[in-house]
Parts: sequence; structure tokens; C-alpha cells
Amino acid sequence: MDALDQLPATKPFALMGTFAVLSVIYFTGKLLYALYFDPLNKIPGPAINRISRIPYVKHLLAGTTAENVTELHKKYGEVVRISPNEVSFTSGETAWPDIYGFRTGSLKGHVNMQKDSAWYAPPVNGVPSLLIANDADHTRVRRTLSHAFSEKALAEQEVLLQTYVDQLINRLQEVTSASDEPVDMVKWYNWTTFDIIADLLFGEPFGCLQDLRTHRYIELLFRGLQGFRMFYVISYFPWVKYLSSLIVDKSMIAGRIEYTNWVAQQARTRIARDTQRPDFMTHILKHNGEKPEATITQKEIEVNCLLILTAGSETTATTLSATTYLLLKDPQVYQKLKDEVRGLWKTYGEITLEAVNNAPYLIAVLQEGLRYFPPVPTGFERRVGKGGEVVSGYFMPEDTALCVSQYPTYHSERNFKDPEALVPQRWMGDPKYADDKRSACQPFSFGPRNCLGKNLAYAEMRLIMAKIVWSFDFELDAQSANWMAECKVLTLWAKPELVVRVKEVVRA
Ligand code: HEM
Repeated sequence: MDALDQLPATKPFALMGTFAVLSVIYFTGKLLYALYFDPLNKIPGPAINRISRIPYVKHLLAGTTAENVTELHKKYGEVVRISPNEVSFTSGETAWPDIYGFRTGSLKGHVNMQKDSAWYAPPVNGVPSLLIANDADHTRVRRTLSHAFSEKALAEQEVLLQTYVDQLINRLQEVTSASDEPVDMVKWYNWTTFDIIADLLFGEPFGCLQDLRTHRYIELLFRGLQGFRMFYVISYFPWVKYLSSLIVDKSMIAGRIEYTNWVAQQARTRIARDTQRPDFMTHILKHNGEKPEATITQKEIEVNCLLILTAGSETTATTLSATTYLLLKDPQVYQKLKDEVRGLWKTYGEITLEAVNNAPYLIAVLQEGLRYFPPVPTGFERRVGKGGEVVSGYFMPEDTALCVSQYPTYHSERNFKDPEALVPQRWMGDPKYADDKRSACQPFSFGPRNCLGKNLAYAEMRLIMAKIVWSFDFELDAQSANWMAECKVLTLWAKPELVVRVKEVVRA
């Protein structure tokens, strides 16, 4: 006999009644607080978003957060409440330093705003990567890894970069001269950036350009990335975890474990190899342990290989794909770029890292591509520390989650004139765009946790774009006429095929 059976018949109903009354009191109290007493109520936004996270989660799951938050900012201005505890800013020129910046100047003595753990997966091998490490570990690990990303290291890595960019050009020439079929440039850019990063990390590529095939582990990586949104959902609605354990494909979890183990094994194999090739690992191992404050463990190396493999490839491929699409939609800008690239360099061999750093229009086109279609489209949220903080002149209470939302910020007329046009000259001192708030555009983020691979990303993108534009004429195929509108924010951008007709440039 269980305990319930021993109670008088009326007791269970009385208990249920008490529970129902307490629930009604609790939820009414929460509702009243949200509607009338919450200090965040002075931040504008839809009334429903003040009391419920569901409208935001709906867009998160549908992949439409960029459009939705852009619309909200259009309607409510530079600061918007997007959910009960989350605030988005487009006032980037002040919000970037206030939220993400170094605590210097007027912010001296303030603690760094911490990353909002709601957005991140628990560490795969029990050790946090740079992305989620606490401030002390972050400084120590970043100091050690940064040797692999210095200007000097980048100059030494040029031979390796050139090898893969040349392989991209040669394989594209082979394929397009053998057939009139159009090609999917998203795939080709991904193949190139993943091969480069794998070689820099492990001393061997994925072999995508060699086999003209997306490696199985890259497919697993993309599937895993898209699932990342669920960590946010689960952290606010924990019961979803039990539901998702019923519906999530078990092979996906097994795939993620297999992929993680493979990355760790590749890192160990590379570490065991006795070589001085100028890849990431040579620089990391050479400087690791020089000082106690610049020492990292084997597991920290492995988990950061996992991070760099994703952070350093998909993002760069996104900018190249988006910029290609934007160029093909704007014949004037495309022609100007061709004129610069084909005028500056008479032979293919002249296109070096140093040379592409002296191609102003190419540099401006890529900068505009980053503005128009930032690879990290939403914000990386931070939590306000004890006592609250002032951001862009607005007081934010303790524990509020804040971000600069990149896509909405870069498409706001508050910050950029003609935000929906492709205007490279806004980055070249054109007086018509003198009032643009260029400092609001920080596609690599800002402050102590900004992108570690920024220099490499610029080098790769400039080299690839220069050699592509020098070697080929592209034409957008009709099936990709609305490519950008079909991209979705599933953590990062989920991109459909970018179908392009490619013709080799014939020179006399
Ligand atoms: C167009 C290309 C790229 C863009 C737009 C980009 C953007 C970003 C952004 C916005 C962050 C900050 C994330 C956060 O706040 O948590 C970040 C961090 C990072 N990125 Fe990139 N990234 C790019 C390419 C690369 C490349 C090529 C590498 C390396 C090979 C790389 C490695 C990293 C690493 C290691 C971090 C973590 C830094 C830290 O937490 O200290 N990224 N990136």
C-alpha cells in the first residue's frame, strides 16, 4: 500500500488544491513584477517579450533571430528588450567597449562582464576552451596560443596558405573546364578553409580539395553547431532536456563523441611528430611552459584545437560566400574589384600576402562583406555583474544578459548610410559616408575575448578573393538569386548552395 492510499480520500484533492493556489499566486506575482516593478521595464520592447521568452525562442528555433531583432530595433530604437532578462544594443560605438571592452579608463576597477553560460555547451573533455574559460585561465591559455597567431607566425605560414589557395584555383579550373555545370561556391570555400585549418593544427588537411568531397567530420561539426541553440533553450526550460533525450537522434551524440576523440587523437599525433614546420602546434609547443603564466596542459591544447577548427574555418568561408554573392548582385562593384585585382598584378605569382595588403578596394570590399553579412550574426551575450552597469548611457541591473547584435547593428540607419547597399567606399574615406559609425562594426568582437584569428582570417580572405577574381569570371545562377534571404541563423549562418557559373579568364 503506498502512502497516498493511506490518506483520507479528501487529502489528495486538498493537496492538489493547495498546489494550484500556490502556483496561481506564484505566477500572478511573477506577472505583476514583470509588468509593473521590473527595473528593466524602462527598456523598450514588445510587452509580450517582457513576460515571456517564447517569442524569442520561436525565432531562435526557426533561424530568424537576425530578421526579428533587426525589426525590433527598427521599431524601438538603439536598445531593445528581447526577452524577460535579455537586452540587445545597436549603439555599437559605445556598447562594444561598455559590454566587451578592457576595463580601462572610466571603466577601471569594474569587473569584466562574464559570458552568459546559457549559450554554451558544457566542456567536452571536462576542460573549458578559451571561449568559456574563466578570466584567469583565459589569460594564461590565450597568452600561450597567441604565439601561433602573431604577425611573424602568419608570415611563416604563407607557404602553406598559398598551397591550398593554389589547389582551390587549380581544382576549380579542372572541374569547370571539363564541364559547363555550375558549381556550389559555399562548398568550395568550406573545403579550402577547412583544409587550411586542419593542416595548420594537425600537419595534414582534411583532403577536401583533393577528393572534392566534404569530409565526414566536417558534416558532423556542422550538425553539432546547429544543435548549439538547444543549450540556450535547455538552460531556461530544463524539462526540454528530457523531451530532447527522447527525440534527439542517438547517432548524432555518438558522432559528436567520435569527432571529439578524433580531434584529440589528431592533436596527440601531431604533438608526437618531431618537426619544425611553421604551423600552429610548432609555435604553441615552442612557447608552452616558458613561464608559469604561459603554460597549458595537453587537454587544454586538445579542447582548443576543437574550438579553432570550427572558429577558424566556417566563419571565413561565410564571409567569402556572402561577399561573392553580394559582388554578383552588384555588377558595378564587381567590375571595380576586377579592375583593381587584374590591374595590380600582371601575373598570378605576384599575388602574395604582402601584395594583397596593398589592394585598397579588395580590402574595402571584404570589410563591407563583413558588415553586410557578419559571420557571427547575433550577439555573444554577457551578464551584468554585481550592482549593475551603465551601457551606452542606460543603467542595466545586475544579472541582465546583454549583447551588441551584429546583424541589426550593421543594418541600422542609425549607424550606416544606405545600410542595404554594398558600399565599399564607406571604408575608403568617401565624404558621402563620413558620418557612418564605423567603430560600431566589430565583426571579430571587441576587448580581451575578441577573435584570436583575426589576422589570419584577413590574410586568408584577401588571398583567396584576390586569386579567385584574378583567375575567373563568375555569374550567379538563377537558382541562387535569393541566396542571402535563404540563409538562416542556426547558431552561425546555415547557408544553402551558392550556385555560380565559372569561366576562366583567358589572357593573351
Ligand atoms: C571572418 C572570420 C572570423 C570572424 C568573423 C570571427 C569572429 C569571432 C568572434 C565574434 C569571436 C568572439 C566570440 C565570443 O565572444 O565568444 C571570435 C573568437 C575566436 N575566434 Fe574568430 N572569427 C573569424 C575567424 C577566425 C579564425 C581564422 C580563427 C583561427 C584560426 C579564429 C579563432 C578564434 C578563437 C580561438 C576565438 C576565441 C578567442 C577568445 O575567447 O579569446 N577565428 N571570433
